[in-house]
Amino acid sequence: MLKGKHIILGVSSSISCYKSAVLARELVKQGAEVQVIMTENATQFITPFTFEQLTKHKCIVDTFDHNYEISVKHISMADWADAIVVAPADANVVAKFAHGLADDMLSTTMLACDCTKIIATAMNTKMYENPATQYNLAVLRTRNFYIIEPVEGSLACGAVGKGKMEEPQTIAEYLDYLIGQEKDLNGKRILITAGPTRESLDPVRFISNHSTGKMGYALAKVASQRGADVTLVSGPTSLSVPLHVKRVDTVSAEDMFREVTARADEQDIIIMAAAVADYRPKYVADEKIKKMDGSSSLELERTKDILKTLGQNRKSGQVLCGFSMETENMLENSRGKLERKNLDMIIANNLKQEGAGFGTNTNVVTMISKEKEEELPMMSKEEVASHILDRLKEFL
Ligand code: CTP
Repeated sequence: MLKGKHIILGVSSSISCYKSAVLARELVKQGAEVQVIMTENATQFITPFTFEQLTKHKCIVDTFDHNYEISVKHISMADWADAIVVAPADANVVAKFAHGLADDMLSTTMLACDCTKIIATAMNTKMYENPATQYNLAVLRTRNFYIIEPVEGSLACGAVGKGKMEEPQTIAEYLDYLIGQEKDLNGKRILITAGPTRESLDPVRFISNHSTGKMGYALAKVASQRGADVTLVSGPTSLSVPLHVKRVDTVSAEDMFREVTARADEQDIIIMAAAVADYRPKYVADEKIKKMDGSSSLELERTKDILKTLGQNRKSGQVLCGFSMETENMLENSRGKLERKNLDMIIANNLKQEGAGFGTNTNVVTMISKEKEEELPMMSKEEVASHILDRLKEFL
C-alpha cells in the first residue's frame, strides 16, 4: 500500500502527459504524498495547475523557483522521496538520465536521488527503437532503474507501433509492488486458487457459482508484493493477473484438481480461495441430451475435494488454508472443515452479512485456527489478504 509514501512524479514532454494527471490522482487516492516535477516542454501539453489541484503541492518546473515549500529544493526533494517515477519519460529525459545531465529540475533531482527509480517510457516508435534510445535504456537498467516499456497501439503522431505510455493503473501497481510492502515473504512459494469452477452440462450450459475471484486475486497481489513467488490457479474470471504472478487458467473442478495437485509439493503455503462447484453432471453430454428430453432429471455427483486431498497428502511444514462460505452456523461448520480437511487455518465468511462474500470489494471474515479465532471488521479485500498472510506466516 502506498499510504504515507513520498513519491516524486516526473512529467516530461509527450502527448501521454494527460495520463500523468490520472496517475497523480491514483497515487493520491492510495494515500501517497505526491510532488510533481515537470520539464518546461511538458507544460505545453498540460499545466502545472492541474497537478497542483490534484496533489495539493506546488508543481515544480524551474530549478530556481524561490516560491517553494521545501527549502533546499532538488536535494531535499531527493532525500524526501521513497520513489521517483517519471511518466511519461520521453527520449530526451531518458538520454539525460543515462548521461547524468542535470540542466533542469527533473534531471537535477534524478541525479540526486538514491531511492527507487522508475521510468515509464512514451515516444514515437522510431525514436524508441533508435539504437541511441535502446543504448540509454540499457545503461539505465544496469543502474537499477526500473523501466516500464511502452505498449503497442496507434500513437497520437499517426504511427502504429510500440510507443504509448503504459496505463496509469498499471504504473501505480508497479510502484505499489516495488515500495508498497515490506518483502517479508521473500522466497516463499505460495499457491492460491481463485474464482469459480464451471461444470459443463453441454456445450452451452454449465453449473457454477457467483464467485468473481476478487478475494483470491487480492491475496495473490499482496503475497506477490510482499516478495512471494506466487502461482494463481484461477477459474474463469474477468480480473487481470497481478504483477509478477503466474496464472494457470482452469475451468472445471477436475482441471483445478489436476493443476493444483501437480504443483502442491513445491509450495510453502497453499490457500484455496476458489469457490469450487460442489457438484457436476454425472453423464457425458450426449447421453444428457437424450435424458433431458422430457423424461429424466439431471443426475449429479460430487466433485473431487481438492483441499481435502491436499490435507491428506501435505508434506511436512507446508501451510494449508481454506475458505468457508456459510449462511448459517458459520463458526461450527467452519471448525468442522478445518478438522476434516486437516488445515492450519480456515477463513469463514458469513454470506448473509453486508459487505462480505462474492463480488464486493470488501469482506468480513473470521480467521479460525486450532488455537484461536479472530474476527476482522469490514475492510478491503486487500487488507483482509494482508491479515491472512500475516497469520499464515506464523505457521511457517
Ligand atoms: N473445496 C475444494 N474442493 C471442493 C470443494 C471445496 O477444494 N470440491 C475447498 C474450497 O476451495 C474451500 C473449502 O474447500 O477452501 C471449503 O469449501 P466449501 O464449499 O465451503 O466446503 P465443502 O467441503 O464443499 O462443504 P459444503 O459445500 O458441504 O459446505
